Formats: sequence, structure tokens, C-alpha cells
Amino acid sequence: MTRGDLERAQPGEDPTSPRVVVVGSGIAGLTAALHAAASGCAVTVVTKDVLEHANTRFAQGGIAGVMFDDDSAAAHERDTLIAGAGLCDPDAVRVLVTEGPTRIRELIALGVAFDRAADGTYVKGLEAAHSYPRVLHAGGDATGSVIEKALVARVHASGAQIIEHAFLVNLLLRGGRVAGVDLLVDDRRRAAIEADAVVLATGGAGCLYAHTTNPSVATGDGIAAALRAGATVSDLEFFQFHPTVLADGDAFLVSEAVRGEGAVLRDEQGRRFMLDVHPDAELAPRDVVARAIAEVMAGQGGRPVLLDATGLRPTRKQTASFLAQRFPTIDAAVRARGLDWAREPVPVTTAAHYLMGGVDTDLHGRTDVPGLYAVGEVARTGVHGANRLASNSLLEGAVFGARAGDAIASDVAGAFWPAATRPAT
Ligand code: SIN
Repeated sequence: MTRGDLERAQPGEDPTSPRVVVVGSGIAGLTAALHAAASGCAVTVVTKDVLEHANTRFAQGGIAGVMFDDDSAAAHERDTLIAGAGLCDPDAVRVLVTEGPTRIRELIALGVAFDRAADGTYVKGLEAAHSYPRVLHAGGDATGSVIEKALVARVHASGAQIIEHAFLVNLLLRGGRVAGVDLLVDDRRRAAIEADAVVLATGGAGCLYAHTTNPSVATGDGIAAALRAGATVSDLEFFQFHPTVLADGDAFLVSEAVRGEGAVLRDEQGRRFMLDVHPDAELAPRDVVARAIAEVMAGQGGRPVLLDATGLRPTRKQTASFLAQRFPTIDAAVRARGLDWAREPVPVTTAAHYLMGGVDTDLHGRTDVPGLYAVGEVARTGVHGANRLASNSLLEGAVFGARAGDAIASDVAGAFWPAATRPAT
């Protein structure tokens, strides 16, 4: 699908268009909405807060994808499988890495300006467990926010109906298939929206934990609604803990990209403990690093470990200016806490970050409840196994959001769902 296809999409004009409700407004939901609209569906996007306030907006590190000639889909696939601890679904991983570059180019066409070097080439970012620096970022460490803004602008222009401050109470079911959504709008009024298909893009469930990098909207209600509707969910035990959030004040994420740039972890004696844990030290898979931090903290009375970014450039002044330019969001958060991370290591701890499990789907986001799709963090596509590779989450949202959005019109017309559960025409 080209930018032109997405721009021409004007859903809702034709009364025979399949009616699609997308619940959630992060990269997965908005991509699904745009693709469904472009294939002729009348789309309504429902979101619990305002459209922009999805978890996507907080993604710092970037989006992983094979965008450079000396990288390969085989290498990205291998890294994803290894990080996933042998529990990924290889077919889903193959789809992710082979279709990823197309989706990243689609974001670029929608106006996402990934950071470029002086020579005009995209800046290559390295994160843990990647064998190649394939992570593109925007605004330094504001990648999610830049992507979210571009998608929100496009969805507004697409003619999709948008309902904000609407909480998903339940999925409506009729004749064995999903028939719409039951919403609580503005905390006071119930509203039912009939639909031929519903796409759950409700994100994760970090707010189940006292310490999380997730915003207040990540409450797992999409998974709960899917369960009540009879959908299969799995791998809910695989909750990823991010190794580094500031241990001072709110759990503010310090991107893995900081370690990708060379920052190291130390215990309170200043010892670089990851050297004894894994050959890739601080760039070992995220679960390995998070567990090691938890062990070190347990051995030092629960006190945080230290993230040392002081040596990233030859002088303190150069380090300070590099950190401010490469990580402006984190730099501001660190300094707001009265810390100077160019001068001294800063205290960090782990926090709940990402749910690998969720609502089971096939390779087009279809769940086992006819008419119900799940994309993004709410879904269990199988791409993450037991531990998601860094920066594969935005990619998964884009790839499987597009796949679901593209599949809906023909599914509703009867090409996929069993006849007994097709909507009445
Ligand atoms: C980070 O920037 O460290 C988080 C990226 C991710 O969760 O993939």
C-alpha cells in the first residue's frame, strides 16, 4: 500500500462498507485503521484517553528493521529467535522481519523523519541482543512520539470516526461472532457500536505492577474482554522487565539505546557485574540483564544499581553535549531529578515493561472468535517468544496492524470466516 492509497482512503461513505471498530490508538491500532480504511472499510477508532495518549508515544529506543544493505532479514530473524529464548513462532518472526522494511518505508512516507547523519543516511542505533545496529530513531529518543503524531494526523485526515474517552466494557457477540463493542463513554454514558469486525489494539498491562514504564492506560482490559468473549489467550506469564528505569522518583525509562551507545552497569561498589554474566555484557538479551540487576540489588539490600554513561565521550563536556543531543527526553528527566549523568553514574532499577503474551492470533491478527482481531501488545502473535527483542514492538504493531487491516474486508465478505458466522448482509 502506498501513501497515495492511504491518503485516498475515505471510509464511511458507502453504506455497504464493512464496519470496523478499532479499540486502541497506538501504532498497531492506527495502522490497522488506515489499512482497513484503504481497503474500503468504514472505520471507527475508539480510545480510552485522547488519540495521542497510547503507549506508543513513550517508545524511546526506536523501530528495528532491515534498512541497510549490509544487514539481512536472516540476521534480524536469528536475533529475534535467540532473544525469544527458543519460544518464538518462527513463521511469525519471518513475516515480521521480511515485511518490516515495507512498513517502515510507509511510516517515512507518512512523514516520520527518522534521524539522519550529516551525510543524509539514517543513523544506525544499536540495542541489546541485536547483531547489527538496525534500530532507526527519531527526535533522538522520541521515536514513539514522532510516529504517533504522524499516524494520528493521518487518521484524522482519513475520515475515520474517532471516539475518545471511551472504555471497552465488553465485546458484543451475536451468532457466535463479534458484533460490536459496548463502551463506557466519558465515565458516565454507555454506548453500543455495531460492527462487522473489531480490532483489539488495547496494548499491554504494565499497570498490574507497582513499578512499570507503562502509562496509566496499560491496564489489560482488552485481554479481559477477549477472554470473556471466549478467545484463547496464552503466554501471559511472559512479562518483560526493562533493565533500566530511573530509581529516583517515577519509573522513568532509560532506553536500552543508552547502553547501545556504550553505557555500562555497575553495582554500588562500582563493579561492572554484567561482564561475569553474559559474553555480551550490558547488551545481553533484556531478560538476562534484568535478572542480573535483580540479583545484584538483592545482594545489596535492595538498593539500585548504577548506569554509568560518563565515559561515552573523551571529556565530560563532550559527553554532556552528546547525551543532551542523542537522548533529549531522558536527559531532561535525569536533570529534572537533580542528577548529572555526564558526571556520575545514575541509580537504576528494573520495571515491568512489556507483555509478550496476549490474545492468540494467526498471521493476519485473526483470533479464534470470528470477527475479532488483535494487534500490537494485546496480541500474542508468537514473534516475541519469552523475551521480546528490543525495538521489535513498534515493528510488530506496524506489520501485524497492516496485515489485519488488509485482511478485514475480504474476511467479512466471506473469504475467511466460516459461513455460519458471517454477518447478515
Ligand atoms: C528502550 O528504548 O529501551 C525500549 C525499547 C523497547 O522496549 O523495545
